[in-house]
Amino acid sequence: MKYNFDNYLANIPQRSLKFDAIKATKSNDFEKYLSMGVADMSFKPPQEVLNVIKREIETGFLGYYGGIESYKKEVVNWLKTRHNWKAKPEWINTAHGLVAAIGTVLRAFTSETDGVIIFSPVYHSFRKIIKANNRVLIESEMIKKNERYYLDLNNLANKMKGSERILILCSPHNPSGRIWSKNELKDISYFCKNNKLILIIDEIHNDLVYPGKQHTIFPLIGDDFFEDYILMTSTTKTFNLAGGLMGNVIIPNDSLRAKFQKENLATGETPNRFGMILGEEAMKSGHHWLNELINYLKKNRDFFDKEINNLKTLKSMQLDSTYLAWVDFSKTGEAESTNFKKLTYELKIISNPGSSFGSGGYNFFRFNLATSNYLLKRATTRIKTIFK
Ligand SMILES: Cc1ncc(COP(=O)(O)O)c(C=O)c1O
Repeated sequence: MKYNFDNYLANIPQRSLKFDAIKATKSNDFEKYLSMGVADMSFKPPQEVLNVIKREIETGFLGYYGGIESYKKEVVNWLKTRHNWKAKPEWINTAHGLVAAIGTVLRAFTSETDGVIIFSPVYHSFRKIIKANNRVLIESEMIKKNERYYLDLNNLANKMKGSERILILCSPHNPSGRIWSKNELKDISYFCKNNKLILIIDEIHNDLVYPGKQHTIFPLIGDDFFEDYILMTSTTKTFNLAGGLMGNVIIPNDSLRAKFQKENLATGETPNRFGMILGEEAMKSGHHWLNELINYLKKNRDFFDKEINNLKTLKSMQLDSTYLAWVDFSKTGEAESTNFKKLTYELKIISNPGSSFGSGGYNFFRFNLATSNYLLKRATTRIKTIFK
């Protein structure tokens, strides 16, 4: 191992959402808290990435960004080497983060009375951005079978009113780490085609896949029968660069891309210098770091699952992907609000309560496992004291 992931960012930086989450408890005891909510890792990005940004700052030039061609070249290389898909540079647009990009897509392709479908429970910002843009939110609750989620397209078909325009798929899925099979992805594209829906596929977690599991980047299902998709990828989760706020909006279809670009122009955004430089370097030099990270995360996942699933009252879903554990607390017999208080105030663990992920999420809690094994042990030891 060349990289030492035990050498975590020990103190949670004050200018971070993770720190704000601790402050929100109104506790004075910051030191004791384990912040396992916000999906930032506690690891430093690859040293090459830190070196590049240090060098940039030392030049003293902090002006507008240029040179996007070399960034796009790295995106194309990355998609080819890590996902075996050949994208064209002209298909790639950049955005100030994927949530912002979803907002742009909603405004480009829908109007206020139109429906937008999500598969819940799912990443809470989908719901927020749909509502903030005054679009009609349609939640299609997934079915849980043998500790795995499945899409319920039959039920969704029965609910369709004809005013739905967009379906958002999180692939791999956050929370639950579920990887969708090629057949499931095909079913979704048939569904979209039959119902004239544009499909947004958010693949922000697609690099964080555990050994033995296979993620299929959406275009590899074959776009000969379905072209109306917008693929979103990023380096931010992969390399812990979320503060760089950037992401890729990849649209092979010409007319869809033109419509997106027109709306994107209206945001006034141009690429964020720091995010682009961080992302480009990470894709160039981060392969080995990422391979080792995945092995480290796997150990954390296995350890956490073993400890949690030994308890009669809790059940952790096995993650195919992502570092976001999804734990069912329903057998505790307590309400979600009670479990939340126990976790937050008695155990001093910050987590995300499942209700915030929409229908089907009640009394689950999401825990971020991307921290040092040492801190993870502290978390499970604390959890075991109350949830036996
Ligand atoms: C599925 C998913 N999409 C998007 C984001 C955030 O993307 P961004 O920071 O680029 O807006 C997250 C963050 O955790 C996420 O889990």
